[in-house]
Amino acid sequence: MNKKLFGDPKSITQSLVPPYIRELKVYQAGKPIDELAREKGLTRISKLASNENPLGPSPYAIREMTNALWDIHRYPDMHAYALKTALSELYDLKRENITLGNGSEGIMGYIARAFLSPGAEVLTSENTFIGFYILARSVGAHLNCVPLTKDYRYDVEAMANSIHENTKIIYIANPNNPTGTYINRQEFDQLMEHVPDHVLVILDEAYFEYANEYDDYPDSMDYRYDNVITLRTFSKAYGLSGIRVGYGFAHEDLISNLNKVKLPFEPNLIAQKGAVGALNDRPHLERTLKTNSKLLKECVTFLKEKDFDPISSITNFVTIKTGTPQASDDLFNMLLDKGVIIRPLKANEMPEFIRISIGTEEEMAHFYQAMEEILPKYNDLHGRA
Ligand SMILES: Cc1ncc(COP(=O)(O)O)c(C=O)c1O
Repeated sequence: MNKKLFGDPKSITQSLVPPYIRELKVYQAGKPIDELAREKGLTRISKLASNENPLGPSPYAIREMTNALWDIHRYPDMHAYALKTALSELYDLKRENITLGNGSEGIMGYIARAFLSPGAEVLTSENTFIGFYILARSVGAHLNCVPLTKDYRYDVEAMANSIHENTKIIYIANPNNPTGTYINRQEFDQLMEHVPDHVLVILDEAYFEYANEYDDYPDSMDYRYDNVITLRTFSKAYGLSGIRVGYGFAHEDLISNLNKVKLPFEPNLIAQKGAVGALNDRPHLERTLKTNSKLLKECVTFLKEKDFDPISSITNFVTIKTGTPQASDDLFNMLLDKGVIIRPLKANEMPEFIRISIGTEEEMAHFYQAMEEILPKYNDLHGRA
């Protein structure tokens, strides 16, 4: 029997899809390991493309998630009592100040749904987290993006000067992805002096655990402004990207409005249990931070030795300028042939840059070896002495 094929969808997409959705591009994730293995027939692959925790999840988290499998015929606790309690104890908050979602990106989606509408003005920076641009545009918001400074940092002064009466939300990724740079305490204070009370500031602190080791990093929880929502995640230092859990802290009035648009059973049952397990394993987190800080330093030294100029990063990734989009493509493809996946930054409108996530000791050794092998040809092609 012949299957009926879909016909010409133009008429429905024309009438159904709003122009701001038609203009969106689908988010491009880092290349999955299995895909590269299939494409190139490689067995040794190091994925340094998505800023994940290369040490993997905590064994506590795995145990909790494994036990939870016996209960998955039940819906999750929609109030996520255990996870919210664990977070409220850790950060000295009430459960009413906490919201959860499928990753911090899930919560960004709820913020967009609850607080933005077509034409609403959102102020942020150029070259920041793409996921946020997509979510804000998906509800028809207008993005006002201020360029980064010459040293690839948020231009706080220019942002403060760009706030005007229509500004509804200011989005700040601190530290920023894909640059790894951050706004410091003084800059944060300076910005907040200019932010009117009715403007919501989203402080996306996805790399908080890494950044918090730096004295002048402004942990937004030390301030507790009524018009700030802090977003954090279990995807990075806690090593749980695959189960999608993020959390947000804010005034209970903001949280209760977010909860009205939130899907009731996010995060799912396994994710809630895994996150509690991860929070209970401080040694795993400490190991993660210590390993990252050592390997990040080594990576920066290696890149400098090879005449790259890494952007100063306080995260688990480092970004370098290759100089041209072609050079970025070449470096990415040459490394791919050697089984190392890094991230080209074309989608971040930084096509002449690439980003390297910090992996395990073995993965970094793989990256260094691959670089040693490809650099003679790469340098030749791109006029590097
Ligand atoms: C700055 C920033 N915010 C948010 C996210 C999304 O994290 P999650 O996995 O919690 O959705 C990322 C992921 O790369 C990120 O870099």
